[in-house]
Amino acid sequence: MQMGPIRMAPGVYWVGSMDWDRRLFDEFIPLPDGTSYNSYLLKGEEKVALIDGVDPTKEGELMENLEALGVKRLDYIVSNHAEQDHSGAIPRVLEAYPEAKVVTNAKCASLLKDLLHIPDDRFLLVGEGDELALGGKTLEFYLTPWAHWPETMVTYLKEDRILFTCDLFGAHLATSSIFAEEGDRLLDDAKRYYAEIMMPFRMTIRRNLEKVSKLDVGFIAPSHGPVYRNPSFILDAYRDWVGDDVKNEVVIPYVSMHGSTRKLVSYFVGKLVERGIKAKPFNLTKSDLGELAMALVDAATVVIGTPMVLTGVHPLVLYAAYVVKLLRPKARFLSMIGSYGWGGRFVEQLQETLKGLKAEFIKPVIVKGYPREDDFKELERLADDIKERHELVVKR
Ligand code: FEO
Repeated sequence: MQMGPIRMAPGVYWVGSMDWDRRLFDEFIPLPDGTSYNSYLLKGEEKVALIDGVDPTKEGELMENLEALGVKRLDYIVSNHAEQDHSGAIPRVLEAYPEAKVVTNAKCASLLKDLLHIPDDRFLLVGEGDELALGGKTLEFYLTPWAHWPETMVTYLKEDRILFTCDLFGAHLATSSIFAEEGDRLLDDAKRYYAEIMMPFRMTIRRNLEKVSKLDVGFIAPSHGPVYRNPSFILDAYRDWVGDDVKNEVVIPYVSMHGSTRKLVSYFVGKLVERGIKAKPFNLTKSDLGELAMALVDAATVVIGTPMVLTGVHPLVLYAAYVVKLLRPKARFLSMIGSYGWGGRFVEQLQETLKGLKAEFIKPVIVKGYPREDDFKELERLADDIKERHELVVKR
């Protein structure tokens, strides 16, 4: 299932790898549609450059693609991001092309030295706005920190108006065409990717978005997923996702062991719906973490449901709460519903796990055993509290 080089523009080729089979990224992020590691070859009149490498498991495909294009000499490897799914093949490329220099910023070079032991003399350092001429093709470099690590940058090919963005604007999606077929499926994959990779850095992504929006971009060529020939498709989606607007939605990740928490969640969902609020329950024993992450992109409120296990939060719920904390969604309100048998401190434990999120914690609904009439009234109170707050923050 290897794909050979694909011509994108005169002297510009995709030479990456489709990873149809990969199902986990960073050993916890689900990849239901696989992914790709896009690497691009630029043939100038005088110099030849490669933009980003591929995952080390796929370096053989990259080398074969370079061979297929007859690349005998490579002058530069631009490294937009040090993470190994893009940089892991660089040592092999440097070995095959002893004259090649790794072109990157100082922070990325430092990481590449630590992660891949690339020697000092193989680097050519660049900074914000610097240019590199290939002969008829000119590269410009712009620093875009925290998209996805602190060293990330993008590379702009001026003459062809192609912006190489590495992780930024990517999608974990393996396809037999490198060009985007814009539609709901791609938007979902891009949103899932944003939620899992970019959402924690929403405010810096917003600044990066402003920076790249000033460039005259014809193609956006990320290093995961398809190339956008219509940049506004992905730029507009990002503007929406990184904006401050929240939707009239409540995300409810939960676990129930013996039915009490399930009953609470079920009743609560009904009361939210009666109040015109969209509810998105996620049974954590069956849910895809990526679906939960996507739901967190827009929702105004997150209510976590848990039974007490011994004296604390259910371990699956604690894991999900930790993921919520890592992803730092823009939700304005948090709360909890839960059931216990004899006693413990699960509210405090959950609050401690979520500490640092800039959201108001609304009074939770905590029930001893299976819910009674008063407990259902409390769920209605929580639904009312949420409605009242949503009316203040959700734009209609
Ligand atoms: Fe695709 Fe942050 O690496």
